[in-house]
Amino acid sequence: MAQRERPRAHISKCLLTGKGSEPMALHKDMFDEIARYYDPIMAHVDYDRWFMVVTELSAMLEPGFRHLDAACGTGVLLKMLRRTGWRSMGIDLSHAMLRAAGKNGIAPPAAVADMRALPFAGAFDYVTCLFDSMNFLVALKDVQQALHAFYAVMAPNSLLYFDVVTERMVQDHYADDEWIEDNGRFTTTWRNHYDHKRKVIICDIRVNTGRACHLIERIYRREQLEHAATKAGFRLLHVCDAHAWRPPTKKTVRMDFLAVKGDPGPFRKQLKAICTRIRKRL
Ligand SMILES: C[S@@+](CC[C@H](N)C(=O)[O-])C[C@H]1O[C@@H](n2cnc3c(N)ncnc32)[C@H](O)[C@@H]1O
Repeated sequence: MAQRERPRAHISKCLLTGKGSEPMALHKDMFDEIARYYDPIMAHVDYDRWFMVVTELSAMLEPGFRHLDAACGTGVLLKMLRRTGWRSMGIDLSHAMLRAAGKNGIAPPAAVADMRALPFAGAFDYVTCLFDSMNFLVALKDVQQALHAFYAVMAPNSLLYFDVVTERMVQDHYADDEWIEDNGRFTTTWRNHYDHKRKVIICDIRVNTGRACHLIERIYRREQLEHAATKAGFRLLHVCDAHAWRPPTKKTVRMDFLAVKGDPGPFRKQLKAICTRIRKRL
């Protein structure tokens, strides 16, 4: 979660109880402690960029497409899309995040669900999973399960768009670092630790003097994700630097992945013009 294209973490190595190189996922709601502060903490985050890219890409779909935002969090993007008339719904593992989505306005349609095992078989033409939500799946087998689950909820000739943060993001914005932010209403203390060997970021976030929320993310290589997507049945359409919409480089901090369920041919024909438009609008 890149507050990180700017700031953050104390280290709870005890949370990493997995065997070998696969850390074990936590079963508690990781976002419980900060869900109600999430939107103000992320106030500076550029959701307009995701909105722009998500809507530009939708030009490849037939009108009336049905959209799922997997790991929708507090529904910021979901609400922006629904305001423009999209038939979007969200799912998220965190009750607390979905409760927060309903505060200060109309709650978007959203359900508590695990993106590794989704209901709604064949129901969606467009699935998004953004703001490094895939990094929160802390074992490669979880990523594989999620990609299988996305494939299962998607209709034929549908589009998947997800992003991940890279190790470069960790080097540039986390490392082993600690800082405090004060937005005038509350203070947020961030303590980060990166376990280089396991490629796991542990981020403790504490609001005022409350309990710390322990967030764990894992860094995946491009090839791992491409392989997992292909194994799930997807045809890869495009992988790029999320901020440049050009091929990823050593400086890439976030990667965007586009994959198709079905024949990628018709998508490929339209993609070049869409990439040009996205680059102009970034
Ligand atoms: C950094 S937040 C991003 C939320 C939202 N996409 C946004 O842009 O604000 C990551 C989200 O992933 C959700 N998440 C983590 N693991 C999940 C899982 N297995 N299934 C569904 N959601 C999950 C968390 O609950 C959290 O809301």
